[in-house]
Parts: sequence; structure tokens; C-alpha cells
Amino acid sequence: MSDQNQGDKYGPKSFSQGKLSVSHESESEWDDNKKKNYSYRDLGIYDQTGGKLRAHLVRPRKSPDGAIQKHYHKVDFHMAYVIQGWSLTHFEGVGEVRMDVGSCMYQEPELAHWLIDCSDDYTVLEIYVPGDPETIELEA
Ligand SMILES: [Fe+2]
Repeated sequence: MSDQNQGDKYGPKSFSQGKLSVSHESESEWDDNKKKNYSYRDLGIYDQTGGKLRAHLVRPRKSPDGAIQKHYHKVDFHMAYVIQGWSLTHFEGVGEVRMDVGSCMYQEPELAHWLIDCSDDYTVLEIYVPGDPETIELEA
């Protein structure tokens, strides 16, 4: 790396829209209505970054007939970190992947996947860019 690039070491500064955002669990609410089969707790990053990035906790809720439908997300970046419970997800071209507490997943943009099963308490931190990506439902 040349000295000329040292100024870029910490990347673009365009995400932040303010000095600080703190989301306390005790002051937060879970949104059960944003999307079918999911409950969300937004962590305030979406507003802080002007919608460029979203960080939220997700609790998938299994539909009565089982798995969540095959889909993909139109994202530039998508990662997840399991903070409670476990899940079994099928990623197209990869196969079934089990995630437990402490598992961290990065998935490439537009990788089709579907949730096969999860524990009742499954809770995952998701971070993606942009903050409000389109999700495309696919035929199984
Ligand atoms: Fe998904």
C-alpha cells in the first residue's frame, strides 16, 4: 500500500448521519408486522446512516406448514450472527447449514436460501447494505 492510500485506511465517512446512536433493549420494541413470519428489533443504525445500512435482530417464526419460502435479497453486503438458539438453512449451491449461538455467516449478494427449521428462541443479528433491500420470493 502506498502512502497515498493511508488517508483511506478507515474507508468512506458517508455512513454516519450523526455522532452517536445507542439502542437499549429496555427501550426497544419488536415489530411483528413488518414482514410475514419474522419479528424484528431495529437497532437504530438505519436511521443513523440515512438508510445505507441496517442492523437488526430477527426472530423468524415458522409458518404452520414449515419452512420459510425460498428467496434472495438484493444486497451489496449481508452477514448474520446468531445470539440465541439455532437454525438450519438451505443455501442454493451450498446445501444445508446449521448455525448455533456464536455462528457468524456472510452470504454473497442474491444467494437464494430458505429456512428449513429453527428453535423457538432463534434470534440472529443481521447487518446488510443497503438498509432496505428488496427481497425476491422464488418458487421452491
Ligand atoms: Fe433471507
